[in-house]
Amino acid sequence: MTGSSPPDIIVTEDVTGPAMVPLAEKFEVYQDPTLWQRPDELADTVRNVRAVIVRNRTQVTAQLLRAAEHVLIVGRAGAGLDNVDVQAASNLGIVVCSAPVQNATSVAEHTLALMLSLARRIPPADCSVRQGQWLRHEHTGVQLAGKILGVIGLGNIGRRVATYGRALGMQVIAHDPYLSPDSEAVAQLGCELMSLSELFAQADVVTVHVPLTDATHHLLNRQAFEQMKDSALLINTSRGPVVNEADLGEALTSGAIAGAALDVRETEPPDPDSPLHMLDNVVLTPHIAAFTTAAQNAVIEAVVADVTAVLDGQAASYYANFPRPQR
Ligand code: MLT
Repeated sequence: MTGSSPPDIIVTEDVTGPAMVPLAEKFEVYQDPTLWQRPDELADTVRNVRAVIVRNRTQVTAQLLRAAEHVLIVGRAGAGLDNVDVQAASNLGIVVCSAPVQNATSVAEHTLALMLSLARRIPPADCSVRQGQWLRHEHTGVQLAGKILGVIGLGNIGRRVATYGRALGMQVIAHDPYLSPDSEAVAQLGCELMSLSELFAQADVVTVHVPLTDATHHLLNRQAFEQMKDSALLINTSRGPVVNEADLGEALTSGAIAGAALDVRETEPPDPDSPLHMLDNVVLTPHIAAFTTAAQNAVIEAVVADVTAVLDGQAASYYANFPRPQR
């Protein structure tokens, strides 16, 4: 970093675009999209700033937050907060804000795209046409209408996916430990709430929309795959470590389940030699579910608004720690 006085805000990852302009007009903003890769330099840089903006790769640990003596707010340009120690931030009086709804529609649409790609074998069919083949029977797919969609997690994204599933003529079942079966949300979505085991046993497509926590780490593992139908398809657009990839590889190879589509991985970027990359019943994308222009603009606008508000002494709209801390 150059210059005599410290910036007001550091941006440690690639958070760019027109929605960032108002921030740069009002504050001194230092952007280094690779800073997250150098934790020591990050800890040094954070010392004198008043706000930090991150995506999902910067590890905002208790140690980093303790070094951030003047930081009032951490803005997470996205929904997932697994890279931010929110409890430590609260203890230190630092506001954490995120964008909990702004990319939900794009993520839900990408979930649908993955489900349709997998069910209709779009990637291998596309590949075969490019290779000069015209193999119609080999790419016979699965019609989704009439099938059962199992949604794990009925938050902002899961609810949208449930609605889209119903629009396709699917029957929707769901598991969400935070909702009661007779809740209005469940009734409005027209889905049936059940235990995870029941969902695994009934669903033709299982789609996961949960945050990464100790309780959801490797939620989708060998035991889960053994409970699923051998024709089941798994979609994950939530967090990679929710699925045990080694167990998934075995389940796909042994035929315990029929296919999987993953936008997120246990390690990102994944090992290029991952066994999953050799399977043609797998569809893979590089954590792009939230990457549409509309979603990114909305996400950044929300974070810019909250960072501006807090630096101006106002309350944030999307703060993730409660009660709102005062520093
Ligand atoms: C999110 O959590 O909002 C999405 O997964 C995208 C991201 O991590 O930035």
